Amino acid sequence: MLQFFIKSYGCQMNSYDSSRISDALMEAGHKTAESMSDANVVIFNTCSIREKADEKLFSDLGRARLLKLQSQITGNDFIIVVTGCVAQSKHEDIAKRAPYVDIIVGPQEIHKIAEDISDFLKKDRVDTIVRTASNAKEKFLHLTDQFFNRDVSEFLTIQEGCDNFCTYCIVPYTRGREFSRDVSDIMSEARKLLSMNVKEIILLGQNVNSYRGIGLDGKTWNLSRLIFELANLDGLKRIRYTTSNPKDIDESIAKVHREVEILMPFLHLPVQSGSDVVLRRMNRKYSADEYLKCIDFLRNSRSDMAFSSDFIVGFPGETDDDFQETLKLVNTVKFAQAYSFKYSSRPGTAAEKMDQQIPEEIKSERLQILQEILNKQQSQFNNGYVGKSLNVLITKQGRHKNQLVGRSEYSQSVAICDSYLNIGDVARVNITESLSHSLVGMVV
Ligand code: SAH
Ligand code: SF4
Ligand code: F3S
Repeated sequence: MLQFFIKSYGCQMNSYDSSRISDALMEAGHKTAESMSDANVVIFNTCSIREKADEKLFSDLGRARLLKLQSQITGNDFIIVVTGCVAQSKHEDIAKRAPYVDIIVGPQEIHKIAEDISDFLKKDRVDTIVRTASNAKEKFLHLTDQFFNRDVSEFLTIQEGCDNFCTYCIVPYTRGREFSRDVSDIMSEARKLLSMNVKEIILLGQNVNSYRGIGLDGKTWNLSRLIFELANLDGLKRIRYTTSNPKDIDESIAKVHREVEILMPFLHLPVQSGSDVVLRRMNRKYSADEYLKCIDFLRNSRSDMAFSSDFIVGFPGETDDDFQETLKLVNTVKFAQAYSFKYSSRPGTAAEKMDQQIPEEIKSERLQILQEILNKQQSQFNNGYVGKSLNVLITKQGRHKNQLVGRSEYSQSVAICDSYLNIGDVARVNITESLSHSLVGMVV
């Protein structure tokens, strides 16, 4: 029996993968460790989206190396595994810079990690294992169907990979081509989650709304058809999906939002920029105007719909005027929440080779201006609920006595004091106060 510790970086797809790796290791009889220093197996599930994310891995590996040296002195096992997107895109670099890493496998090879570890224990393997096959179908076929430890709200990956090749993005090179899981497979996973008291399922995909899977009738189903099916499951209280691409929003999405009450009226719809010139150079396949029409269309379908988004500032060639276009779009939409990043050049992408790279100081300046507006919008959105009520799914105990914490329809964190509610309940809550990152309320 080994103690394992998984450190997950990056997006929700990685958190999902980490929990499936954890299941496989628990099935093999291993136990989770509280920290890296209590573990005999350390797994880094890495992200490569921006340069900083890559560098984070190498600094963490330095720490793991010291722990490995200490274990060797005491004669204990210590296995270091690197998986995720950096393992895929930089496996040669990792093997060279960190030869003490035992297993380097891409995000679509995670189903073999438990077996690799047991080979190491049997001392059958001495050389570093490196595997970077890109076959999501195989991964889902072979991941264990034993699940352990699930929370009230859980991710369920339905689609993986990306065919869009936005010019700044490394994901098509790390996650490979788009793959959609069969509906029957997704339904049985959803049932398993519900049997473990999960109440909210968040469907995941790099391009979740381009989902095209084999349906229960043998025909191809899209995301909305799948959501209609999931909505019939007993005990499921909430459905969300992320991340959507604006170019794939269609009438079927509007319809499912209108008709499925447990589908939350909150959509993450990354726009990246408000300038058509930049959007074209990014290969986003929509204009700022089309994005705005898409927002209007969804708001007209369901009036309580709110939006979050992602932005990149300082994309090669972005002028001050282009940046002003982004601010204009932000002021038109009014986002409930947003993430914004400085453009980071990624190896092998088309934008890496573009001229007119923007200096760091200008990127920082633009980021600060944008974030100030986005933060203000988020506060305005949250303040707007003081004196009104929201439905809150209770997800955990709070820090204070009788305090519970949950999430609203819009994923806002809400703290309430009530001794009658349980984790997993949905309560109607009167919002009394809006703090910087959360709300406070009382059960109606
Ligand atoms: N598939 C999703 C995005 C996944 S990556 C979509 O198309 O929206 C998450 C976010 O990281 C992106 O929306 C983008 O804003 C940001 N991002 C991706 N590549 C980046 C890069 N090279 N530099 C800075 N931010 C980047
Ligand atoms: Fe990256 Fe674009 Fe694909 Fe999103 S749609 S994962 S940003 S290439
Ligand atoms: Fe990062 Fe890979 Fe996700 S690059 S954002 S972990 S798909």
